[in-house]
Amino acid sequence: MPILIKTPEEIEKMRAACRLGAEVLDYIAPYVKPGVSTLELNRLCHDYMTNVQDTIPAPLNYAPPGYTPYPFAICASINHQICHGFPNERPLKSGDIVNLDITVIKDGFHGDTSRMFLPGNPSIQAKRLCDVTFECLWLGIGAVRPGGHLGDIGAVIQKHAEKSGFSVVREFCGHGIGRAFHEEPQVLHYGKTGQGEKLAPGMIFTIEPMINAGKAAIRHMPDGWTVTTRDRSLSAQWEHTVLVTETGVEVLTLSTGCPPAPEGMSA
Ligand code: MF3
Ligand code: CO
Ligand code: CO
Repeated sequence: MPILIKTPEEIEKMRAACRLGAEVLDYIAPYVKPGVSTLELNRLCHDYMTNVQDTIPAPLNYAPPGYTPYPFAICASINHQICHGFPNERPLKSGDIVNLDITVIKDGFHGDTSRMFLPGNPSIQAKRLCDVTFECLWLGIGAVRPGGHLGDIGAVIQKHAEKSGFSVVREFCGHGIGRAFHEEPQVLHYGKTGQGEKLAPGMIFTIEPMINAGKAAIRHMPDGWTVTTRDRSLSAQWEHTVLVTETGVEVLTLSTGCPPAPEGMSA
């Protein structure tokens, strides 16, 4: 399958789905406090999507080749969990860092976005990891332009992560998105400027760097989904869905509650 170029009608539907995805994170943010469990957050998000938004939680029963159906409406990855964490009954405690990853389907189109939450008082190191990962996301977004290359995105992310003393997860990447949850291309979070597929207006994909405080190596948990750092170091991730425009990039998963681009970085 080649990279799909979305039509203006499809882009309009993606704008709607992506905004709704971001609005789930706005909705849940005030609940992410010490004492709440990620299973409770899953329930709240599920009910908000299905009852308020009339969206479908895309993760629920999602089963790519080689995977068992994902059994929850959201992904909740805590501390050394990198991605695809199962919501569970353990109450969050001050100092945990948690990624909530939301994908909604509206009118047949997917919107995919995730943020880090730091309930209570994070350590300086944990806060810095989350900040650097957010900067990686926005550096990647800033590298998107028609005529540019996918490698431009990976290169700026890898450079910033590694010069900060952190490492980039290799096994998971950003992805094209639209009628399908995961489409071509693969958007690697490492690489070289000028390499990889050329970007063209109408392409829509996610950028979702996973950055580890320690080594890059991962471990798969026996639940078939949860991925952790092999060295049990902390891991952070932020995700936006973006559109390549005629002149640059449009971030589709913005909302009133989403943190603004870091100082001096923008789309
Ligand atoms: N939202 C994740 C991503 O960013 C994918 C989660 S797949 C699931 O690509 F089944 F775990 F939800
Ligand atoms: Co994604
Ligand atoms: Co996601």
